[in-house]
Formats: sequence, C-alpha cells, structure tokens
Amino acid sequence: MCGIVGYIGKQKDIRIGLEALRRLEYRGYDSAGMAVYNADAKTIHSLKAVGRVVNLEQRLKEVSFEGSPFLFYTRWATHGGVTEENCHPHSDCKNSVWVVHNGIIENYRELKEKLQQEGHAFHSETDTEVIPHLIERFFEGNLEEAVRKMLGLIRGSFALGIISKDDPEKLVVVRNSAPLLIGVGENEYLVASDPSAIVSQTKKVMYLEDGEMASLTPERCLIEDINHHAVRKAIHEIDWSVEDAQKGGYSHFMLKEIMEQPESITNALRGRVLPDTGEARFGGLSVVRERLRSIKRISITACGTAYYAGLVGRYMLEEYTGLPCEADVASEFRYRRPIVKDDTAFLFISQSGETADTLAALREVKKKGGLTLGIINVTGSSVARETDAGIYNHAGPEIGVASTKAFTSQLTILALLTLLLGRQREMSLADGQVVTRELQRIPDLVKQILEQREKIKEIAEKYKHAENFLFIGRKYNYPVALEGALKLKEISYIHAEGYGAGEMKHGPIALIDEQFPTIALCPQDSVYEKMVSNIQEIKARKGPVIAITNEGNGGMKEIADDVIFVPRTIEMLNPILMVIPLQLFAYFIGVARGYDVDKPRNLAKSVTVE
Ligand code: M6R
Repeated sequence: MCGIVGYIGKQKDIRIGLEALRRLEYRGYDSAGMAVYNADAKTIHSLKAVGRVVNLEQRLKEVSFEGSPFLFYTRWATHGGVTEENCHPHSDCKNSVWVVHNGIIENYRELKEKLQQEGHAFHSETDTEVIPHLIERFFEGNLEEAVRKMLGLIRGSFALGIISKDDPEKLVVVRNSAPLLIGVGENEYLVASDPSAIVSQTKKVMYLEDGEMASLTPERCLIEDINHHAVRKAIHEIDWSVEDAQKGGYSHFMLKEIMEQPESITNALRGRVLPDTGEARFGGLSVVRERLRSIKRISITACGTAYYAGLVGRYMLEEYTGLPCEADVASEFRYRRPIVKDDTAFLFISQSGETADTLAALREVKKKGGLTLGIINVTGSSVARETDAGIYNHAGPEIGVASTKAFTSQLTILALLTLLLGRQREMSLADGQVVTRELQRIPDLVKQILEQREKIKEIAEKYKHAENFLFIGRKYNYPVALEGALKLKEISYIHAEGYGAGEMKHGPIALIDEQFPTIALCPQDSVYEKMVSNIQEIKARKGPVIAITNEGNGGMKEIADDVIFVPRTIEMLNPILMVIPLQLFAYFIGVARGYDVDKPRNLAKSVTVE
C-alpha cells in the first residue's frame, strides 16, 4: 500500500523519481506527490495531483523543478479522502520538513490533539501529518536527532522518507513493518518500497529491517538500529532486469503474466525435480530437511490468492504425505490463539513477502518458537528474510494487481514440497515418479491452454453483461473455484461467488435462473460424476453453464452451454491447468467492460497495512 521513492546524490533530474514512481503505481494509485530541495533557492518545492502518476507528470511539465534530495509518493488512501491535501509528502508549519509515509500511525489522534494545542496547524485528514510536525517540534539543526525523538512517540507501521530544507544534505529513512530498501549508486542513494522501482538505476540494494533508520548523504549511508547501534548491511544484487518488469508488447501486465506461465512454472521446477527417485529438492530447505522428517502436522497461512494456493496444497499434502494439514487466512490466524508445537511446520505463502497479516502471523509463530517456512516470490522481502527456511518462486516480478503467475508457481512448489515430504514418508517410488513426470509436462500443457485464448475471449464476450457468476468445483478444484471468483470480481467488478459444488443444495442454488451463469470445474477426476450431477441440477433450473473439462470429453457439450477443454494430467496437478481459463476469462471480461485490469479500483498489489 502506497509507494515511496527517495533520492540523494549528484543527479538533479527528478525524472529519476518519476520513473521509479511509475513502477510503484501498483501499490496505490489514487493520488501522487513529490518534494525536491532546490539548493539555489534554499527551499523545498512540492507538487501533488489527484489520480494516477501521469497526472503528477503532467503538472510537473508546467514547472522546472530540479535538485536533490527528493521524495516521490503514490497513495492508496487509508486516512482521509482522495484529495491533494491528503496526498503526501506532508510538511510542518514552516514547510521545512517533508515526509512520505507508507503504513499507519495508530496513535495519531492523541498526537495531533497535543500538537494542535501547542499551536501546530494541520492541513490534511491523514495520520501521517503528525510526523513532520513532531520533527519540527524536536528540530535543533540535526534532522536525524529530531527524527529519533519523533520515533519515540509514534506507534504503528511505517516506512518513511524525510528531507528538510534546514538540514538539506540528508535523506533520512526509517522502516517499521512496511517495506523499504536502499539502492546503492556511485555517489548517490535511492530509496524505494520495492526493487522494481530502482532496478534501472542500480542493481545493488540493502534491505532495511524493522526498527532501523538510515541517514543518507551522496557519499555515505549510516544505518542504526532501534538502540542507536550502528548496523553493517550486506549489499544484495538484484537478479532480474528492468525488461522483466515491463509489458513486453502485451497490452496489460496481467495478460503478459498469464502468458508467461509456462516459463514461470519451468522456473519453479528448475533444478528441483529428481525424476529417477521420484523426489524433489530445495536448496532453501536444506537446513531444515532432517527436521522435516519428524514433523507431524503442517499449518499453512496466507492471504487472498496465496491462501487459495494453500488450500490446494492442503489437499496435495494430506493425500500424499499422510500429515494433517490446515490452511488459514493470516488475518484470522494472527488473532486466534494458534497452537504452536514443535512437531508442526508453519508454512507462509506470499508473492510479495510483505503482506502485513502474513508477516504478523509469521512473527506470532516465531515468538512461540515454531518452525517457519516460506514460499515467496520477492527475494529479500520481509517474509523471505524472517522465515527459518524458504523456497523462492523465481516467477519474476508480478506487476498486475491480480495475481496469476504467482498462483500457478505457488501450486507447482506445493506439489514439489508434497513430493519432498511424501517421499520422506509413505509415498511410493512409483507414485513419486508419476508426479515428477507429470510436473515436467505441465509447462507444455499450460501452453496448449493459452493457445485457446481467442476461444476463451469469445466466451467472455458472450457473458460480459452478466451481473453475477457462480464458480463451483470439488476437492482439488474447490479452491480453484474460489480463485476464479476472486479473479473475476477484482478485475471486472462482477459479483462472483466460489463454492464447493457439494454446497450448492445448501443455499446458493436458490440464486440460479437464466441470468445467473455458473462456471463448473469438472476435469474427469475422482469427483467427476458428482460434478456432472451438480451441473444437471443447475441446468434443470435454466442456469447457463460454462464447463471446463478434459480434452476428449465431448459428452460435456450435450450438458453445458459452453465448454473449454484442457489437457489431462494427474488429479493433484489439475488446479494448475484449470485456473488458466479462469484467469483469461476474468481478463477478457474486465477488458471488454473497459476497466483498467492492471490497477483495479480500491486495490493495491501489496497489502502492507492491516
Ligand atoms: O503478496 P501476497 O501473495 O502475500 O498477497 C496476498 C493477496 O493480497 C493477493 O494474493 C491478492 O489476493 C491478489 N490481488 C489477488 O489477485
């Protein structure tokens, strides 16, 4: 939520900040702002615009701002409406201190009241505005000193970028429960919420930890922890390029990412499949491999699409490892009293690795001494750094707000994890070999489904005016029904519900009529006959049905109104194939209805606030 960019160094060209901000727009896009120190005028110029970053860009064409340091910001509103006044950067009474903030200041009301009593004038409804005023109150010529004192008073989550015209040679940044990293250049430093923002400028980055503050000048970077002890940071090399984070000829990131799935699945498999012994290996789990032999239970925690991947994982793991497995949404898990025992592996799944609830759930388990594992796409992210051991997706940057390639990559890794844990237990060599062989076919099978995209587009055109949709599936494909419904609602704003098909008769079938289409996931697996009965029940009530089934199942055309065929594989891997038509369907309906599918309303790519 919200994107932060900062710069200090030899370059005075603020387009660096604008370009970085464009790449962070997925984090929030209701308004954008900037502030830059101009040494000649000895002042800080600021500009804000409601709407997308392009609006700020237009406004910047009317002025000739340049200088260093500078801050840029793209907002996803939490406190206060979408107005220029509420957009960051925020400043103090003298317009000396300027602050960008990602996160929430929980005790801002009491602080604001006190500051107002002291005579500070506020101009926004935001929680953030207390920060520059507190710094103003403490400022005695040294920005870090004042920031340190301010930090003693605020509570909540924050990634902060701070500059001041009264101590202009510095950019001060702070991190607490919101992502922030520092890019290292030659006589310059960049700051951003995410590496994709700065990868065109530098591939060398340092990740700040919670409680750390950095004071940057063009020549030096001083980092200290919460107790004011100096911290030495490792410099990491970003292993992907700026091209990876661009659209590559596709009209939307979402479509590009859907089409990239044969490759992202291949990357998830690379070097991890042992076909001869029917096993899987993960470098990232080697430190806990022996401990995994003795676990008796698995607990999976995640949010949104990653949670649905976890639900599929539960079916895989229970079927092949014999271990009881639970899957929870992180926002519930963290507020329950989770039972954390030595015999349990706690698995956290997150594309971004920065989702606030997932991170909080992870920390809760760590506090209680549980074994924590991660499946994470963004390298160096908070979840990746804080779990005991983990597996990277290597899916490349996922920019579209709707998660697509991360989901199929997560499913692929869950299948591999099932192999690893299953073969440590009762899973036979023959079963292991079948799974490894099938996994290796998946990228090609996905390619075959993607080749049908024109047909899926036609079906999407036919149904684009529907106002409701039901998605049903059973067993492995029940979570896929949930994911299909989520994809459609977030991209096309159509009301959609996902249900286990067996639940139809317990309520949702009351909704069915000629206007209420159902998407039925019915590969010819162990629950196929049951699915066919459910489809018949819907047809008997005149509900239109789009069925997704296996190639060669021509009989389905007699029952359903529209049929999409996918290749055959083993039951546990079906979800990876079944979800592809659902992603394309949601994408084409969203586009046909004229929506910005990469940046759906009210959403942000990375939910770093509760
Ligand atoms: O980065 P994460 O995987 O932790 O994100 C979790 C959810 O916020 C995310 O999957 C969300 O549901 C997607 N926008 C759905 O497409």
